[in-house]
Formats: sequence, C-alpha cells, structure tokens
Amino acid sequence: MTRQFFVGGNFKMNPATREAKQALVKVLNDAELDQNTEVVVAPPSLYLIPLQEIIRKDVKVAAQNCYYKDSGAFTGEISPGQLVDSKIPYVILGHSERRTLFHETSEIVAQKTRAALDKGLSVILCIGETLNEREAGETAKVCQAQLEAVVKVLKESDWSKIVIAYEPVWAIGTGKVATPQQAQEAHADIRSYLTKAVSSSVAEATRIIYGGSVNAANCKELSKLPDVDGFLVGGASLKPEFVQIVNSKK
Ligand code: G3H
Repeated sequence: MTRQFFVGGNFKMNPATREAKQALVKVLNDAELDQNTEVVVAPPSLYLIPLQEIIRKDVKVAAQNCYYKDSGAFTGEISPGQLVDSKIPYVILGHSERRTLFHETSEIVAQKTRAALDKGLSVILCIGETLNEREAGETAKVCQAQLEAVVKVLKESDWSKIVIAYEPVWAIGTGKVATPQQAQEAHADIRSYLTKAVSSSVAEATRIIYGGSVNAANCKELSKLPDVDGFLVGGASLKPEFVQIVNSKK
C-alpha cells in the first residue's frame, strides 16, 4: 500500500511578528510544491485563522495543541470544537515540548487525542525517547508506552485520522539528526507495535513521520527509507528550505 508522503511545519512560538509570518506564507504560496505530498503548517494559535486566510488552499493548517474539554473555565486553552468551528483540520498533540515543559502525561495526550477525533480533527501524534532512554536501549519501549495510552482509547477506524510523528527528543532543535538507520529502526518498531496492538491494516496504512533537525541537506536520504512517510519540521520550517523538504520525494 502507498502511504501519501506528509510534511508538517511546526512553527512553535515563532515567528515573532505578523510581517514575518506573512513572509513565510509568501514563500510557500510562490513555491512549486510536490502535489503528491500532503503539507500542513502549524502556526501559534493567534495566527491560525489569519494564516489560513492567506495561505494557498493545498496547504493545510494545524494547531500546535488543544485541550480535551469542549468549553468552560480553562484559561489559556483552545478546544477541539473551536478548531473545527474555525475550519482548522489538524492538531499536533503530545509534542515533547508539551510533555516536558507543560507536564503532559501520555494519558493526558490520549484524552486530548480522543477529544480531537470526536470533533472530527486529524491528529499529528508525537512520541519519542530522550537521550538517556536511547542510551539505555529503551527507545522502542518508550515509544510503545506513549502509544499504548492512545491505543487504549481509540477504535480501529480512528487510526485513519492519525499521523504518528516519531521525534527523538535528543534530535529536536539540536542539529543532531537521527541517522537513517536509527530512524528506520524506530519507525519499523512503531509499525510492528501497531500490528500487534491494533491490526496489520492499521500498521500498514498509518503514516509515521520523522522529526528532529530535519533540513534541506538531510531530508532526501531520510525520505527514501521504507518506513519514513514524511517529516515534522521545526526550525527549518521557518526558512525557505522548507520548500525543499516538502519536495524531498521529487
Ligand atoms: O515539531 C518539530 C520538531 O520538534 C523538530 O524540531 O526541526 O527544530 O529539530 P526541529
């Protein structure tokens, strides 16, 4: 089965000004993008709607987070229903920065995933191990534990709306990209876990993308790996080279 290549740009808490955001959009709007690749960009929540209004229609927009409640007294949060109401199709959940800086457990991530799917959002679900965990040989175990919490609350049919982003924490923003061998091994382990925990058809169909210091120079080689179905890009999504990453399969 062919899985559509997927490239996401996670702007994190960038850019610093509206003008810079517009310049980023202009680069994408003027570029020739591989039409076989699904492209999604995730700006800060403040920019979701204005960015969606000016970006080309073949680039989708994602929120970087959402809460699991529908509405109410949750200062600072946005709900899955509000995203759907604003026609935002995707949300990133479980990013390592949310897990570490904002103390989100795998159970909270699972609750958010359930709530997002219930409202009709698609989810970019992030998992990945720290350097200590990798050095202790626990990469597969950690990724499975993070996924297991989600597996428990999803039905088989829900998986068509999930993209798994494998993002080793030690590779995020460090310039230390995983080697092709490390990435392929982790992705293959995640796929075989999905076979056991969900089904072989879900394992075969689910896109598993890689994130962590992806740039124009390393994306081509990684894009050729059999179990790497795309990228979640941080720093390089703020630069013109994001276009080359989107086009890495061309
Ligand atoms: O969500 C994206 C990842 O955290 C990767 O960030 O490309 O800056 O390493 P990075």
